[in-house]
Order: sequence, then C-alpha cells, then structure tokens
Amino acid sequence: MKAIFLIGYMGSGKSTLGKALARRCDVEFIDLDDYIEARAGKKIREIFADEGEAAFRDLERRMLVEVSGKDNVLVACGGGTPCFGDNMELMNSCGTTVLLQTSHGRLLERLKRGRHKRPLIANLSDEELDVFIIEQLAKRMPHYGKSAEVFDSTLLEDENQIEEKCEAFISRFGLPVKGSIEEKV
Ligand code: S3P
Repeated sequence: MKAIFLIGYMGSGKSTLGKALARRCDVEFIDLDDYIEARAGKKIREIFADEGEAAFRDLERRMLVEVSGKDNVLVACGGGTPCFGDNMELMNSCGTTVLLQTSHGRLLERLKRGRHKRPLIANLSDEELDVFIIEQLAKRMPHYGKSAEVFDSTLLEDENQIEEKCEAFISRFGLPVKGSIEEKV
C-alpha cells in the first residue's frame, strides 16, 4: 500500500480516525505530532513557546520528509502540515492525501474541549475560537483543496461512530485488514 496522509483542520479527527484504523489494519501508523514530540523530546506547545512557530514548521517538514519515504504507512498530519512550503506536493507525490472534512459546529465543540494542547488556540475565548476557525480555515482551504480525496469525519463522537467511519474508510481506500489472510484460509 502506498502511504496515506490524513489531513485536515485541528479537531477534524485525524488522530482519532488514524488510531482506530491502526487497531484494525495491517499498516504502520504515525501521528506526525507524536513523532515530532518524540524526536524533539518535548511537547508541541513547548516547541512553540521555546523556539517559535517557524522552528516548529521546519521540524515538521523534516519529519514529514522522513515518514513520506515509507510504504504501507498511514500518517495523521498536524492541521498546519499541508499549509507550509511544498508539503502538499510532497505528500501527493508519495501517496494519497485524504482531507477529513467536518462541520464548523463540530470543530468548535471538539476544539473547545481540546484547545489546551494546541498553542495556536490555547489562549482564545470561546467567541474568539469561533471566529479564528472561520478565518484560518478560509486561509488554509487553498492548501487543503489540493488533497486527492475528501472523507467526511463529522460523526466521530463515540466508539460506534468511530467504528462505522473506520469501516467506511477501510472499504473506500482498500486498507489491508489485520488477520484477513488467516480468516480466508
Ligand atoms: C497545528 C495543529 C496541531 C499541531 C500544532 C499546529 C496547526 O495538530 O501540529 O499545534 O497549525 O493547525 P492537530 O491538527 O493534530 O491538532
């Protein structure tokens, strides 16, 4: 299997869907944020605070180049990964980019809960977050729009919904399922 890159805005479900797919599928799963944190030896918010966003984007690019060279890999990118340099072109040349698309209301709800670990939104009030999502998403859409595929990720709120989305993703993109060869024998 060629690499699959899950892209999309913060809170679109890249890590949630990616982890669920990794449990079901015979693929290597890499969460790019976790990969960066492991390599840097510190949290994303510490990298932003100590070295600034430009240094983070540099590191993100270098780690993306590293993981893009792999086969049979599923990569959950950071929300900003596609929007810097020629990262989209790199991913499109190595594999399939899949944009996870979620309604504004759902993004807002998820990010209200998960903003503390995301330096770009950690200090915003609910109202500011609402406006920030609209404005930043508009700026990012030209990059996200270069994705090869689009997959709806609005319903990922509980285990059943995650499982349903996971199955839909597997059958649409033909991911190898764990143990499927033995079962057929
Ligand atoms: C970012 C998204 C984050 C993380 C960093 C910057 C962004 O990843 O890479 O905080 O610019 O949108 P998630 O999309 O997994 O939150």
